[in-house]
Amino acid sequence: MSDRDLILAIDQGTTGSTALILDRQLAVLARANREFTQYFPKPGWVEHDPHDIWTSVGDAIIEALGRASVDTSRIAAVGITNQRETSLLWRRSDGKPIHRALVWQDRRTADTCKALREAGHEALVKQRTGLVLDPYFSATKLAWTLDEVEGARAAAERGELAAGTIDTYLVWRMTGGAVHATEPSNASRTLLWPLAGKAGAEGQAGWDHELCELLRVPPTVLPEVRPCTANFGLTKGVPGLPDGIPIHGIAGDQQSALFGQACFERGQAKCTYGTGAFVMLNTGSEIVRSEHGLLTTVGWQIGDQTTYCLEGSAFMAGAVVQWLRDGLEFFKSSSEVEELARSVNDAGGVIMVPAHAGLGAPHWRPEARGLIRGLSRGTNRAHLARAALEGIALEVTDLLEAMAEDLGAPLAGLRVDGGAAANNLLMQIQSDLLGVTLARPTILESTALGATFLAGLGVGLWDSSTAVADAWTQDRQFVPNADPVALADLRAAWKTAVACA
Ligand code: G3P
Repeated sequence: MSDRDLILAIDQGTTGSTALILDRQLAVLARANREFTQYFPKPGWVEHDPHDIWTSVGDAIIEALGRASVDTSRIAAVGITNQRETSLLWRRSDGKPIHRALVWQDRRTADTCKALREAGHEALVKQRTGLVLDPYFSATKLAWTLDEVEGARAAAERGELAAGTIDTYLVWRMTGGAVHATEPSNASRTLLWPLAGKAGAEGQAGWDHELCELLRVPPTVLPEVRPCTANFGLTKGVPGLPDGIPIHGIAGDQQSALFGQACFERGQAKCTYGTGAFVMLNTGSEIVRSEHGLLTTVGWQIGDQTTYCLEGSAFMAGAVVQWLRDGLEFFKSSSEVEELARSVNDAGGVIMVPAHAGLGAPHWRPEARGLIRGLSRGTNRAHLARAALEGIALEVTDLLEAMAEDLGAPLAGLRVDGGAAANNLLMQIQSDLLGVTLARPTILESTALGATFLAGLGVGLWDSSTAVADAWTQDRQFVPNADPVALADLRAAWKTAVACA
């Protein structure tokens, strides 16, 4: 047996970067997380500095390696998972970004999307990519950057610029600029990759050139698309790591969480409560089209086998709690929200719609903004905290309802993960609202686990996903247990509030 028995998983998320070191038995030997600055230059705009992202990744790697105190020669491979859609462009000559990354929550291209919709292009986009014309996705962010940065479009046409989602940028940085590549789960969030596309051909093959023209992104900037467990090059110049370790597994964070939750069977679903809340349902090899405002997307491609998903994305979940912490200074640590919300029996008639970054599925209203309704003289911080948790759970309930309508039947169960899934009150409210049993795994970092599995499969640490499914263990179940009349009233009040957001 090889003495290379560890995987370094990097989870580059919206608010921070985490590095984890796991062994063949999936024991987490160490983890380290670094938050980084969020830039909000104008209302509705959200940016990340690529330098901050890279520094946070490097620092997290160094700290995790220090904590694990293992010989780096034991690392068999690196797996990467990342916030999706967030995009940037950089110079091929020296790797210098031409602008900050435009984050998935950024709404600045709402008018461009509206104009494209009004010109009748949505049907084609939806048919090819499974997505809708919303500023959430990468293409209009890239086009905006090419238009706004002086000389960028001409440089792109000359082949001098590289574009990518965050996985692509990290691969570029981690290989010392040798590899410009992505994989289908991230590619399928750009509006430029067709659902039927197959990764594995060289160069820019596979990208939809008609959509590139429509959305004004020259194919010359796009990366090569490789299957999720392919070799994405060898490390070179990564802080704390020796050169020559293969990067061997990549997936966007939500798809990676579905993989990490061992949802390999058609019909299995998970919800990840990260910055946003993302519900994903495995639909196997079938491309299922939504009639109720959900997205169809690539789950993963292993070899030449593609697994597809239905997805519902709510843009604010953990971010609402972060906003209560940083924006309203309700508490010092996000984990305090549960105790505060528990100190009251209900939200006292307050409804909070967390539409701070617009409304995603199933509403798709980029212009919507957050809303608090039902304030009275008796409203206090605890009611607002509870209304925030209920708001998160109500958004997810809308997503699951849309999914049930698409499938013609409610989901039998749901696996939950992500930081906010540790909040027992939120999980109970969620289970009550859905009327569905939630299963929470022992390791809540399903996202990183997915990247670990993909990298381990890629490098041959495990020979099948059975090992992964066997490793899934349950921490706790949440069973619905609430007064149906109160729930119906809450949902009715929510629907009214959402209509005003
Ligand atoms: O689509 C955006 C999503 O990938 C961001 O995930 O975990 O950073 O909230 P997260």
